[in-house]
Order: sequence, then structure tokens, then C-alpha cells
Amino acid sequence: MPTVLITGANRGLGLEFARQYAADGWTVIATARDPEAATALQATGAEVHALETNDPAGLDALQVALGDRPIDVLIANAGMLGPQAFDRAGWAEALSTNVIAPTELAIRLKDNVLASQQRKMIALSSTLGSIAGNDSGGLLAYRSSKAALNAAWRSLSIDWKDMGLALAMVHPGWVKTDMGGPGAQIDATTSVTGLRNVIAGLTPSATGSFLDYQGNRLDW
Ligand SMILES: NC(=O)c1ccc[n+]([C@@H]2O[C@H](COP(=O)([O-])OP(=O)(O)OC[C@H]3O[C@@H](n4cnc5c(N)ncnc54)[C@H](OP(=O)(O)O)[C@@H]3O)[C@@H](O)[C@H]2O)c1
Repeated sequence: MPTVLITGANRGLGLEFARQYAADGWTVIATARDPEAATALQATGAEVHALETNDPAGLDALQVALGDRPIDVLIANAGMLGPQAFDRAGWAEALSTNVIAPTELAIRLKDNVLASQQRKMIALSSTLGSIAGNDSGGLLAYRSSKAALNAAWRSLSIDWKDMGLALAMVHPGWVKTDMGGPGAQIDATTSVTGLRNVIAGLTPSATGSFLDYQGNRLDW
């Protein structure tokens, strides 16, 4: 069976990805900042590794643990909303978490993905990162970080196009998680079911796409 690696899998969408892929019989490698506290994740049967995605030493340790194991689908899911209003330190943390960390993860684990059958990399982005779609303002840190994530991963998709990799930036919908809040439009099961279909249908020719959980192409 294929192998998926998911970051930030102790709650929210990451946990739902782990649940669904595990239920389908995939080998699930999941990361959490505190694996011992990640009881729901442990219950999925996933192989859990400790990872604070902003910590290069943690990434070193993950790479050592993985060695040259193939990863069919890499899901850079861990992310944060950041401050609502201007805050220099909070903005910098959001940029590190939402842009630099997932991009570093992709670069570091590229050879593991290349060694697999499916060769896919997915970044959890957001329509809030769409500049064309921004008609309501606010959320400086989150919007700019997801826009920059799209720019960085679009570049990776072009740089790695000849390797047969398929990269996609995906919008999960507005989802009832800690981040999305209870008033969000859809539940995590619906979102992840849709995203897994989108991922299953992703081909190298579509690399660099920005897609929602129903497979619709989104404006940058
Ligand atoms: N929910 C939505 O409506 C929505 C919409 C668009 C995009 N997204 C994106 O989808 C992804 C998942 O969102 P969610 O709703 O599931 O969020 P969530 O419920 O807030 O969960 C976020 C997850 O990311 C982890 N995380 C955050 N910063 C981390 C770091 N520096 N190192 C390691 N793990 C870290 C958290 O770990 P801890 O538990 O340790 O904090 C948690 O597991 C995010 O990238 C988000 O931006 C969500």
C-alpha cells in the first residue's frame, strides 16, 4: 500500500487525513509537536513522529528516522492563523510556519517522494491567500503567508517539473476545526474526503495547480 506523510496531524484536518488514509490501509507517517499527547492520532495506528516544523533540528531527526523510505504523498498541513491585527513577531511566526517550514519540508523530503510510485506533494493553502479573491481585507499575516506559500510551491513545481513530481496547493473549504471555528461551512470529513479525491486524481501534467476540495481551479 502507498505511504502518506502528514504534518500537524494531532487535530483538525491533519488528524482527519490520518484517519481516512489509515482506514484505507495506507501506511501513515504522521507528525505532531507532542506525540504523547496525540492520543486520537495514536488511535489511528499511524506511525507518529515528533516535529515542530519550524525547528531544523527536528527536521534533521525526521530525515534520519525516514532514511530513504519512499513517500507517495507528502501533505504539508501544519499551519497557523497568526495575529488578526499588525504584530511584527506574530507575522514573522506565521510566515515561518505557513511558508518557510512547508517549503523546507518539501525540499528536504523530495528524494523520498521521488523514490515512490505516486510522487505527489500537497500544501494546505487557502483562498484567503488569493490576491484576486481578496475583497474583504484584514488577516495580514495569514493572507500574505498563504499567498507566499502559493508563490514558493508554484516555483518548486516548475523547478521540479521534469522529475515527474505532482505538486498542488489546495484549499480545504471553510472547515469546522479549531482554526475554522464552529460556524464554518463544512466538517473535516467532507473536506478531507474531497481533498483525497483531488489528490488521487492529480497528475504530473497538473503540477503547480491551486485547487479547492472539489477539484475547482482557483484564482491566484
Ligand atoms: N479550517 C479551515 O477552514 C481552513 C481553511 C483554509 C486552509 N486551512 C489550512 O489547513 C491546514 C490545517 O488547518 P486546521 O483547520 O486543521 O487547523 P488547526 O485545527 O488549527 O490545526 C493546526 C495543526 O497544525 C499544527 N501546527 C501549527 N503550527 C505548527 C508548527 N509550527 N509545527 C508543527 N505543527 C504545527 C497544530 O499543532 P498543535 O496542536 O501542536 O498546535 C495542529 O496540529 C492549515 O495549513 C490551515 O491554514 C484551514
